[in-house]
Amino acid sequence: MAHSFDVIIIGAGAAGLMCAIEAGGRGRRVWLIDHRAKIAEKIRISGGGRCNFTNLHTQPQCYLSQNPHFCKSALRRYTPQDFIALVRKHGIAFHEKKLGQLFCDDSAKQIITMLLTEARQAGVQLDTSVQVRAIEAVAGGYRLKTSQGEQTCASLVIATGGLSIPKIGATPFGYEVAKQFGLNVIQPRAALVPLVFDGALLARCQALSGLSVEADVRFRKQLFAEGLLFTHRGLSGPSILQISSYWEEGEPIVINLAPGTDVLACLKAWKQSQPRLHINNALAEILPRRLAQSICDEQNDSGPLANLSDARLAALASAVNDWHVKPVGTEGYRTAEVTRGGVDTRELSSQTMGASRQSGLFFIGEVVDVTGHLGGFNFQWAWSSGYVAGQYV
Ligand code: FDA
Repeated sequence: MAHSFDVIIIGAGAAGLMCAIEAGGRGRRVWLIDHRAKIAEKIRISGGGRCNFTNLHTQPQCYLSQNPHFCKSALRRYTPQDFIALVRKHGIAFHEKKLGQLFCDDSAKQIITMLLTEARQAGVQLDTSVQVRAIEAVAGGYRLKTSQGEQTCASLVIATGGLSIPKIGATPFGYEVAKQFGLNVIQPRAALVPLVFDGALLARCQALSGLSVEADVRFRKQLFAEGLLFTHRGLSGPSILQISSYWEEGEPIVINLAPGTDVLACLKAWKQSQPRLHINNALAEILPRRLAQSICDEQNDSGPLANLSDARLAALASAVNDWHVKPVGTEGYRTAEVTRGGVDTRELSSQTMGASRQSGLFFIGEVVDVTGHLGGFNFQWAWSSGYVAGQYV
């Protein structure tokens, strides 16, 4: 059967564009479509408008998936250095902000322009505002009913991303296609998302809103040492976003608000050397004053260190070094940076990103059950998985 295209890619975000570039470069006739008039919106708003486009320290351990080995092949075949070479080829200035995170010096729009230029040079036909109404498997490929008529292809790539930030185009389309073809989907969940609290803890967070500290945040064996921010709804900041991807409902997370400082040892030493020092002033030597005061109020402790038993000091120290808090939930997809879960990797080939039981159907990017840590890892997965599929479609 003669198809109208060799490859149709649904979703012109990071992964879809990369796949289109590679497939087009191989001489495949590629139709890249998106339901929105404006494409690649997540790239545009990413990294505060400067796009944290990769991370120099990318490794499989930086990804969550039911199969932690799945991402290895793609990440090895298209590395951060490969993407950096592309960025350099287009003369885009960039810098490492911290922890291997690479950002554009100027604007995330440069990354979009770069990808669109490459796609055009690869002969990709890109159409926006195209609605896909139905997909059916036909001999040697797929037939799509779209708002631009019926089109057929040998390979169909689903690159419609996750559920986060619906107002810029996120839909469950990719999961629905997977289910239509009998592929398992791991329950999607908001990830890299602020955590919310209620009751007295919420009131404390609200009172401290805007204040940030460096913290160690732990859930079970996973620990992140980065900034923590008090908000009007609970806790945010990089360390909280990171742990949110691991956190499970009903469970506490453990926070060390003064990493590297043994608060009990300090308080005991000061009790000896400066017995008249008030506890709030003592804690303010270690923490921002507002936070120190909030901990003293919450523990109901005040006055000179000399008046506080070692047991009271231990309780205060543990409220700093070993603070157990139970979130009531997350802020959800409205603010989540990514979606955890997605198309079950057991359904896909890690070599090609093709569905093992459904020939010619590919899933790439965030729609797949591979979720990166904060810091450029999610774009790297989009580039790597898109590139790999682009070699086989
Ligand atoms: P992506 O979401 O990019 O693209 C999916 C495309 O499919 C969209 O264009 C959408 O319109 C389209 N689509 C959806 N449903 C459709 C349908 N039914 N029909 C047709 N088209 C459809 N990551 C990182 O590594 N560094 C960073 O700095 C940031 N920063 C960041 C900030 C914010 C605010 C968010 C929300 C996210 C990030 N991320 C990030 C995460 C990163 O943006 C994300 O992981 C990738 O964009 C995923 O790429 P995909 O191509 O898979 O999906």
